[in-house]
Amino acid sequence: MIICVCRRVSDREIARHARAGMSFDEIQFELGVATQCGRCEGCARDVAAQCSAAHPVAALQLADPSLERATWTASFPASAAA
Ligand code: FES
Repeated sequence: MIICVCRRVSDREIARHARAGMSFDEIQFELGVATQCGRCEGCARDVAAQCSAAHPVAALQLADPSLERATWTASFPASAAA
């Protein structure tokens, strides 16, 4: 999805740069995102923050760890688990 219409920058491009460890300022300099009208800045910052190497997906924690097991088992039919 295009996040920055002015510079035609997609969420994937922002995410790829964020995962590579770049800060938002570096991404902005590299891709030009949020450097014209600025309307995309909030969304671009959100994407960068969600994909930042400082916040890896593996670090996510569920409020109730038992929910993870319940979700996992609920998505598998009993015959597939045997
Ligand atoms: S939409 Fe990104 S600078 Fe205008």
